[in-house]
Amino acid sequence: MDGNGRWAKERGLDRVCGHKTGIESVRAIVEASGDWGIKVLSLFAFSEENWDRPEEEVNALMQLMFKEVTEELDNMMSNNVRVVVLGNRARLSVDLRDAIDSLMEETSHNTGLVLIIFLSYSGKWDIQQAADRMAAEGGDSIEPYLITAGYPDPDLIIRTSGEKRISNYLLWQAAYSEFVFTDTLWPDFRKDSYRDALWEYASRDRRYGKVK
Ligand code: IPE
Ligand code: MG
Repeated sequence: MDGNGRWAKERGLDRVCGHKTGIESVRAIVEASGDWGIKVLSLFAFSEENWDRPEEEVNALMQLMFKEVTEELDNMMSNNVRVVVLGNRARLSVDLRDAIDSLMEETSHNTGLVLIIFLSYSGKWDIQQAADRMAAEGGDSIEPYLITAGYPDPDLIIRTSGEKRISNYLLWQAAYSEFVFTDTLWPDFRKDSYRDALWEYASRDRRYGKVK
């Protein structure tokens, strides 16, 4: 989800206003995913690198996260959404961790959309923690140690705001993902843009390195 800051700047607003409007896009995309029968929607909300932003912005983002995690329960229950938050939990505040745990627990029996929020996540961090745990346990395969173990690899990764890079997102898991890059800034990315991205995905020929 990229482009909140530029969206705000274009309007002479504070960056945090961009993040707040971005949350409206999250709501729209979660709702559309449920309506369209998407099984798993992942959102890259905050990377390990994002901790190096100015302190006020990091604090504002963490506050917004806490607010959403604590206030969205009813909405998630009525839409049958199972929420999973994945990332480097050690860097999150105890209050936020507790709020995440309770949202995950309360929605754990919902059978509709699985909504994965990547928070304080980075692909290299994930591979490193997986390798460390594998070595400690004497395992012989990385995959079961990745934080995403048990969840499917993404079929499609959409990046908004005109940037054409992966920025340390799901490095291992994106091995055969399709990518759609759109110039639309995240706060403007709503149902119509999402539909366009899914149509583009539908036109792709996925061969997984094989011959068809
Ligand atoms: C994405 O928007 C939100 C987060 C990374 C939390 P940005 O904040 O990266 O917006 P730009 O890239 O400055 O426009
Ligand atoms: Mg950005």
